[in-house]
Amino acid sequence: MKALVKLTAEPGLRLTDVPEPETGPGDVLIKVLRTGICGTDLHIRAWDGWARQAVEAPRVLGHEFVGEVASVGADVQDIAVGDLVSGEGHLVCGKCRNCLAGRRHLCRSTVGLGVGRDGAFAEYVALPASNVWVHRAPVDLDIAAIFDPFGNAVHTALTFPLVGEDVLITGAGPIGIMAAAVARHAGARNVAITDVSPDRLEIARKVGATLALDVSAPGTGIAEAQRRLGLKEGFDIGLEMSGRPEAMRDMVDNMTHGGRIAMLGLPATEFAVDWAKIVTSMITVKGIYGREMYETWYAMTVLLEGGLDLAPVITGSYGYEDFDTAFDEAAKATGGKIILNWA
Ligand SMILES: NC(=O)c1ccc[n+]([C@@H]2O[C@H](COP(=O)([O-])OP(=O)(O)OC[C@H]3O[C@@H](n4cnc5c(N)ncnc54)[C@H](O)[C@@H]3O)[C@@H](O)[C@H]2O)c1
Ligand SMILES: [Zn+2]
Ligand SMILES: [Zn+2]
Repeated sequence: MKALVKLTAEPGLRLTDVPEPETGPGDVLIKVLRTGICGTDLHIRAWDGWARQAVEAPRVLGHEFVGEVASVGADVQDIAVGDLVSGEGHLVCGKCRNCLAGRRHLCRSTVGLGVGRDGAFAEYVALPASNVWVHRAPVDLDIAAIFDPFGNAVHTALTFPLVGEDVLITGAGPIGIMAAAVARHAGARNVAITDVSPDRLEIARKVGATLALDVSAPGTGIAEAQRRLGLKEGFDIGLEMSGRPEAMRDMVDNMTHGGRIAMLGLPATEFAVDWAKIVTSMITVKGIYGREMYETWYAMTVLLEGGLDLAPVITGSYGYEDFDTAFDEAAKATGGKIILNWA
């Protein structure tokens, strides 16, 4: 089968023929229809410091996908050939304290699809049945392909109750934009979002952000967002989705006392924040990783059924043969999600 592979330990990717994945009695073989390109895939293509320590070549990339079940193992129940499915890309051990308690998103031994094992940028991908999410309600194929990052957005946005609250999102990448849509849909009063890309901020406006602020201009920080929204005491909820130190610092400076921050953005290095401010303002900071299995997946499905519209977040679609162009467009970081078509 055709697959997009990190063939050797150097920058670049190769579209090449590899054997179809092997499956056991508990596994599901999926014919891939569409995939989403993630920042992780860009890191692996570029072969940066993170990728070098996280990935062993050869490796098939990709963890954001939708596909059709091609076959199921003898022990698999409730999943049938032909079902439309996406997959949870975090494979957990099933044996640690958190797994046994049903908190699988907190597993210490998580293996990432397309990072620690072969992924979904291929004609077929295999997953344990427990990692397969069947789309039982009608769903747009492009949106189904990005359930993984949509799940990051939902997990983060719904971590703290936000009905009636003033919500600040730093970073209008695909995940920040989806989080803005979710926060609006879920009943926030104001949803302010910041970025340094005017194009991305424009997409955030399309999904309903109350205020989309370009913080690249000197002197235009989050205090300006407070001023424009007429806030007096600061934001109630912060969703950090840029991974940038300056964004986190400015967020901390603009939270209300007792404010709550859910932090999804992954900083590249350690950095300082004003801890005294966090202490004296009694701010909660919670790290968010992946999606809750499978509460987040349930929430994603019903949010879409309830009318949540994510269409503006898809801004490019390519055949898999054009992967290099698609990756280049994703790397520009000025648009939304880029889809690769495998059908
Ligand atoms: N914790 C997890 O499980 C998890 C999963 C997926 C992604 N992530 C991380 O979440 C973040 C968002 O993911 P994404 O795919 O949308 O990433 P992305 O890199 O496309 O988006 C980040 C955005 O932040 C913007 N930005 C840069 N400087 C800024 C500033 N000073 N203020 C505000 N915005 C600024 C960038 O222009 C960009 O649009 C990334 O840091 C990613 O690594 C974490
Ligand atoms: Zn991803
Ligand atoms: Zn575990």
